[in-house]
Amino acid sequence: MRMRNKYRKPTTFRCNAGSRCSTSAVVWSLVGCFFMFQLYTLVRQKDRLGGEIQFRVSNHPQFHELEQVEEENIQIPPPRKRSPRAAKRKPRRPTTLIDEFLDENSQIRHVFFPQKLAIDPMKDTANDSYYFYPGRIWLDTDGNPIQAHGGGILFDEKSRTYYWYGEYKDGPTYHAHKRGVARVDIIGVGCYSSNDLWKWKNEGLVLAAEKANETHDLHKSNVLERPKVIYNDHTGKYVMWMHIDDVNYTKASVGVAISDYPTGPFDYLYSKRPHEFDSRDMTIFKDDDGVAYLIYSSDDNSELHIGPLTEDYLDVTNTVRRILVGQHREAPALFKHEGTYYMITSGCTGWAPNEALGHAAESVMGPWEFMGNPCAGGNKVSRLTTFFAQSTSVLPVPGFTGSFIFMADRWNPADLRDSRYVWLPLIVGGPADRPLDYNFGFPLWSRVSIYWHRKWKLPQGWSGWKRI
Ligand code: DGJ
Repeated sequence: MRMRNKYRKPTTFRCNAGSRCSTSAVVWSLVGCFFMFQLYTLVRQKDRLGGEIQFRVSNHPQFHELEQVEEENIQIPPPRKRSPRAAKRKPRRPTTLIDEFLDENSQIRHVFFPQKLAIDPMKDTANDSYYFYPGRIWLDTDGNPIQAHGGGILFDEKSRTYYWYGEYKDGPTYHAHKRGVARVDIIGVGCYSSNDLWKWKNEGLVLAAEKANETHDLHKSNVLERPKVIYNDHTGKYVMWMHIDDVNYTKASVGVAISDYPTGPFDYLYSKRPHEFDSRDMTIFKDDDGVAYLIYSSDDNSELHIGPLTEDYLDVTNTVRRILVGQHREAPALFKHEGTYYMITSGCTGWAPNEALGHAAESVMGPWEFMGNPCAGGNKVSRLTTFFAQSTSVLPVPGFTGSFIFMADRWNPADLRDSRYVWLPLIVGGPADRPLDYNFGFPLWSRVSIYWHRKWKLPQGWSGWKRI
């Protein structure tokens, strides 16, 4: 029997001096308003893009394969047997995949940190050549694991060579004190060169730790993280910026070094708190017009700051903007596509992985808008942990507009030298596995998607291949 609900609102109502409007009329008016709003949004976008409406979609058939959403099911092993006494003392809560990742004795450790298989360019078996395997040990041309953590890549126009710079961490991991985070003494900044982004030659330490002088920023007892190098067209110098800190991360500064050659040696110039603010995770970004910017986590990692460098890239200017205020983001990686600036950041959870977020801006100085989690494929946990890794840089793939390589670190706090590289295709404008919920489903910004692949390679025809 149907009951009448006295609290139910009537579906029709009176309007305009007694004429009766149906619910559908109201719905259609709302739909009309919605489309008017979308039209207005498109016109605004048109203005911003210089008069031309651009529906930025990925149009490289060679990259379509990389836009396939590849699911990955990782089975959590059954719980280990415990004595009844232990079980009573501390009841077991269900294990999650992230617990397994963080447990260095996990039975599925090999899934995250495979030991036996390595990317070995010198073995060059036809089946494996040029394949990136995110998470595998990656050997250089001498057969040693690449040491370039928290790094970035410079394409040197003069030598038409890629240089990969990063933290050289091939030393023992330890805790400086009970409450200190896992660390490796500063060894220096490693540099590797390549023509194809796959086969890397070790160019040695381009900036080495200071062994004797304990007051030096680069003394081995300090912290040197996330080094990045850019070339200054005016001065003809290669300039390195890095995060410089003390063992407790209280110095919170940036360091600057300079060289005449991409392969160093770099002369260390100085460290400072940029704009007199604390600065931890950082990166630098060189825009098409040659202006370079420093972007750093500040105010105890609660916000990011961005500001242009001086013309010689050796200092910051007085201009600075606070962005992503109160959002607690770090590990910024910036890139640009068709006039729009994009940035991937991580949350702040030490060496443990967390969710990546995308941000976009029409001006590099902001305002920056939030785009959601760019990770597609894998599984729910891997998407929520940036595929168990943390952003460090985004590298454009020459010849394929809108296609980039997302570079991330899968940190291994039990043995930091064994941290792995997670490189994945990042595509602006391709389909994502779930719609992003901004602007009622009509994005103002092209989508940014990082696609999980167990193994993948750059498509034939990207410029690097021609030089092999
Ligand atoms: C997260 C940062 O992104 C890393 O560069 C490093 O500083 C770790 N924190 C240290 O816990």
